[in-house]
Amino acid sequence: MNVIEIKPDIFWVGAVDWAVRDFHGYVTPGGTTYNNYLIIDEEVTLIDTVKHDFLEVGVSNVKSLIDPARIKHIVINHIENDHMGALGRIMEIVPFDVTIYATKNGKAGMARFFDTSKWHIQVVKTGDELKIGKYTLLFIESPMIHWPDSMMTYVKEAKLLLSQDAFGQHMATTARFDDEFIDCASITELEDATIDYYANILMPFGKLIQTKINEIKKMGLEIDMIAPDHGIIWRRNPVRAFEMYLDMAANKARERVVIIYDTMWHSTEQMILPLMRGMRDEGMDCKVIKLRATPMSVAIKEFWKARACLIGSPTLNNEVFPSIAEFIVHLRGLRPKDRLMGAFGSYGWGGGAVKWLYEKFKGMKLPVIEPGIQVQYMPSVEDNENCYEFGRNFAKEVRKYNKSFLEAGASSL
Ligand code: FEO
Repeated sequence: MNVIEIKPDIFWVGAVDWAVRDFHGYVTPGGTTYNNYLIIDEEVTLIDTVKHDFLEVGVSNVKSLIDPARIKHIVINHIENDHMGALGRIMEIVPFDVTIYATKNGKAGMARFFDTSKWHIQVVKTGDELKIGKYTLLFIESPMIHWPDSMMTYVKEAKLLLSQDAFGQHMATTARFDDEFIDCASITELEDATIDYYANILMPFGKLIQTKINEIKKMGLEIDMIAPDHGIIWRRNPVRAFEMYLDMAANKARERVVIIYDTMWHSTEQMILPLMRGMRDEGMDCKVIKLRATPMSVAIKEFWKARACLIGSPTLNNEVFPSIAEFIVHLRGLRPKDRLMGAFGSYGWGGGAVKWLYEKFKGMKLPVIEPGIQVQYMPSVEDNENCYEFGRNFAKEVRKYNKSFLEAGASSL
């Protein structure tokens, strides 16, 4: 992709990764981008780099605009490999006295990736400014959104927030802006990718995100563009990005039950139809995810979008089914909140999976409807009736549980 001027003399110089399908274990069916930016002002400033695999693309993009020897400042908003990976090589082609700007944690972390002993690294904190000519950069620390080193850079005169991972999406497109994107896809797709990114990466940090967005609002910054380090730049509607993040940080969700399951001989799977009939008869929206047929990150996103979740697992050797255990480990790390949980499953001669699931739900401090429901070998006619009743009752409980969230303000997601 060619460089793109996103604001006067501010250029996107990043790389589009059309092929990546596994982003450190996160499935990315739509690829991703590594966005970084070059500000050609009196003092030329590079904001972030690209993943090291795309070093040549990133360097040639910069060279298509200026001689890298003109770079005076490099801002590192985030030290994860996909944004700082190319820094070592970049430092070989810029003047030796270039100044790098990073948070205190950013500087310390940088020294774990590179020999920084000869680099000039300036530690910055929230409120610090750097005047580079007609533009002024204002630094805003954002620790744990999503690493300890993270920060954002606001270009005051351009009303541009360079937000690093926050507000990003994993999607590779020729469009760079939300208004262009709408021509080739849909706003729903962009929003779904934003939810996907938040659910899989930022879910644990909702409180910090709320605090940070409110802090930015209090700072009175005018923002007419949000340029993250992945995916689409929010130009048509940056307010929507804030609105979505505030809703997600408040754990808002759709009034829906997502059924996430796996099965051995289809017995656990057969329980789903009567469960769903019961929920549908109560008017509850349902979605079904078979775990072995679905990427983990998609299952996490669908979990996050729904107010409630039923997890189905057969018992295998007195244990939960392995794919379900993997999902639970993944989910536990994301520290989900405010989702009503239940479990179901089949067993042969001794149960175990449903009990195991309830222990894990409670360990995550998630509210539960218990006991769950189990069948031996294959669901009988009576089992099917019990599943139907369980589904009806679960839907009623979800509706009751979701009421307080609706009263606090409907989700815009
Ligand atoms: Fe896109 Fe936290 O790196």
